[in-house]
Amino acid sequence: MMRVAVDGPSGAGKSTIAKKIAGALDIEYIDTGAMYRAVALKAIREDVDVLDIIDDIRIELENGKIILDGEDVSGLIRTPEVTMMASSVSAVPEVRTKLVELQRDMGRTQSVIMDGRDIGTNVFTDAEYKFFMTASPEERARRRVLEQQEKGMTQRYEEVLEDIQTRDYNDSHRALNPLRQADDAILIDTDGLTIDGVVRLILSYIK
Ligand code: DC
Repeated sequence: MMRVAVDGPSGAGKSTIAKKIAGALDIEYIDTGAMYRAVALKAIREDVDVLDIIDDIRIELENGKIILDGEDVSGLIRTPEVTMMASSVSAVPEVRTKLVELQRDMGRTQSVIMDGRDIGTNVFTDAEYKFFMTASPEERARRRVLEQQEKGMTQRYEEVLEDIQTRDYNDSHRALNPLRQADDAILIDTDGLTIDGVVRLILSYIK
């Protein structure tokens, strides 16, 4: 059994890299950000306080898809609206308690690579491997704009950069389990590295 924690700010490329590493090692990939996004989507749709839905919500990850109360919402959780809402709901203690519990369950029975903000510092403090992936805000904004263009969405670079800076601030300043590098995590600065370069670098630590 092996747990690999990958933390870092939004847009550092964690999910792209973690998916590839999961494939290379033949272990499960768990996108914890998608879980916070699913909670946010439900709160938006039902237009209620997140505390009214958190107890009964069902969230599953199946073959890279995120299932909310039985519905595949993978395509619906990437909008700017859900993104901003996810940042707020992730600061609510009851939400974190519930999702962290689910995440720990997922890592109990299978080897996993899990990406998020607090995996190495909170979810799996005893993970076999911990990485902290970063890139400069400008680099992350550039990547996000390209990624959105490929999906036919357009958002101005300046707007994306501002969103990233706001989320960095929120994620690292919230009271509960803020984004921070675990003392025993390996820092991976991805500025100027290709995707394959980052994958090789991380695998070199694991093997
Ligand atoms: O990685 P992402 O952008 O999909 O994450 C969505 C939001 O959820 C983001 O604002 C940070 C938050 N999050 C968190 O607080 N803890 C995690 N383990 C994963 C995500």
